[in-house]
Amino acid sequence: MKKIVILTGAGISAESGLGTFRAEGGLWAEHRIEDVATPEGFARDPQLVVDFYNARRAQAAEAAPNAAHLALANLEAAFDGDVVLVTQNVDDLHEKAGMKRVMHMHGALNGALCGACDLRWPAPMVMAPGDACPHCKAPAARPDIVWFGEMPYDMEEIYDHLAQADLFAGIGTSGNVYPAAGFVAEARRHGAQTLEFNLEPSAVGSQFDDIRIGPATQTVPEWVAEVLGG
Ligand code: OAD
Repeated sequence: MKKIVILTGAGISAESGLGTFRAEGGLWAEHRIEDVATPEGFARDPQLVVDFYNARRAQAAEAAPNAAHLALANLEAAFDGDVVLVTQNVDDLHEKAGMKRVMHMHGALNGALCGACDLRWPAPMVMAPGDACPHCKAPAARPDIVWFGEMPYDMEEIYDHLAQADLFAGIGTSGNVYPAAGFVAEARRHGAQTLEFNLEPSAVGSQFDDIRIGPATQTVPEWVAEVLGG
């Protein structure tokens, strides 16, 4: 096994205290996707949207990586081959754990994006609607989050990695949001083994060769120890 591609979702950060989206009482029970996670919602009420991400940025800043994040960083450092981590998460817990290469396909809470010229820069802790772009000066700063209806980042590169993967692992993601939910099928199509980590089978669980049920802080470090030991 030479190349491992990993996709993480909100479930890997749950045990660090960051709520998932689709759990009972999760973020999408408290907030309407249309209001806080679409370009149309932002156009309608930018203050509401900016406040939502300001609160999440503050929460993520307080959070610490857990044993699953740390195990993946260890895997990246010690594996004799290539480890590619793609995350749907907008927190920075993989980086805080020491992971060097993280592809944030849904953007990042610590980033700002200019709606006029597409410049990306480090976000202040508290953003405000109408903040000016440091480059083109348009009052068009927004959180650097990929909203529904927008194209996720790095897709071409991610599909290249999936095509070369020997193993694809999905960790803590419900398999409801495409294109990420389609990665398992894509990796399989190119001959990868596939392994899911979740508390229960995800919406695309039947497409994985194998599943490890349980909290990521237990199942992921166990698996990493096996990979590095074997
Ligand atoms: P979800 O909230 O949809 O799913 C979280 C998954 O993690 C569920 O399948 C849980 O069973 C699992 N889970 C929860 N706690 C876990 C634990 N301790 N160990 C292992 N698994 C656990 O979150 P995502 O799949 O990440 O997009 O959501 C995908 C995208 O939908 C997000 O990136 C976000 C959201 O709308 C945007 O905002 C664009």
